[in-house]
Amino acid sequence: MTQQARAPEVAIVAAMARDRVIGLGDRLPWELPEDLHLFKQLTIGATVIMGRKTYQSIGRPLPGRQNIILSRSLSGLPSVTVCNSFTAGLEAASRFGRAVFILGGAELYRKALPLASVLHISWVKESFRGDVYFPEFDLADWAEVEEQDYADFHYVKYLRRSTDKSHRL
Ligand SMILES: NC(=O)c1ccc[n+]([C@@H]2O[C@H](COP(=O)([O-])OP(=O)(O)OC[C@H]3O[C@@H](n4cnc5c(N)ncnc54)[C@H](OP(=O)(O)O)[C@@H]3O)[C@@H](O)[C@H]2O)c1
Repeated sequence: MTQQARAPEVAIVAAMARDRVIGLGDRLPWELPEDLHLFKQLTIGATVIMGRKTYQSIGRPLPGRQNIILSRSLSGLPSVTVCNSFTAGLEAASRFGRAVFILGGAELYRKALPLASVLHISWVKESFRGDVYFPEFDLADWAEVEEQDYADFHYVKYLRRSTDKSHRL
C-alpha cells in the first residue's frame, strides 16, 4: 500500500453495559445468544480484526469472515492472518477489499476508536460484574442512525459526526 492509499473504513462492534463493562477476565460477562446472532449478521462476509486475547477466548477463526489477529508475540496461526501492529492489520484488511470490523477487546478498541467512523453498539440492559472496559467516548460525537430493541440489549448504529473521516496509513 502506498503512502497515499486510503485506509479502509473502520467499524467497531461491541456489546457493553451502561458503565462500559465489556469483559470479565478473558470472557464476556454475559451470554446473549440474540446478540451473537446479530453480530454474525453484521460481520458475515467481512474482514474482522481482533486482539490476540479475544481470539484465544473465541478459540477458533470466525467462519465466513477473513480473520486478522493482532499480536506482538505470536506469528503463524492456522487459517487466520496475524499482524504485529494495528497499521499492519489495516493494511492486510485493505488487501482483502471487504468491509472491516474491529471486534475488540479493550486494547484494540482503544487503538481503533479514534479512526472509526461507525459504531455498532449493543447496550446491555442489566448490570454485570466486569473488569474490562470499552474506552471512554463522547456520544455527542456520534449520530444515531439505526436502532433495534431486544429483550436483553438495545442495538444502536452510530456514525461519526465529524465531516472529515479521511485518514492515511
Ligand atoms: N463485549 C464485547 O463486545 C467484547 C468484544 C471483544 C472482547 N471482549 C472482552 O475483552 C477482553 C479482552 O480484551 P483485552 O484488551 O484484554 O485484550 P485484546 O484486545 O483482545 O488482546 C490484547 C492483545 O492483542 C494484541 N494486540 C493488541 N493491540 C495490538 C497492536 N496494536 N499491535 C499488535 N498486537 C496487539 C496483543 O497480543 P500479544 O500479547 O500476543 O502481543 C495484546 O496482548 C475479554 O474480557 C473479552 O471477553 C468483549
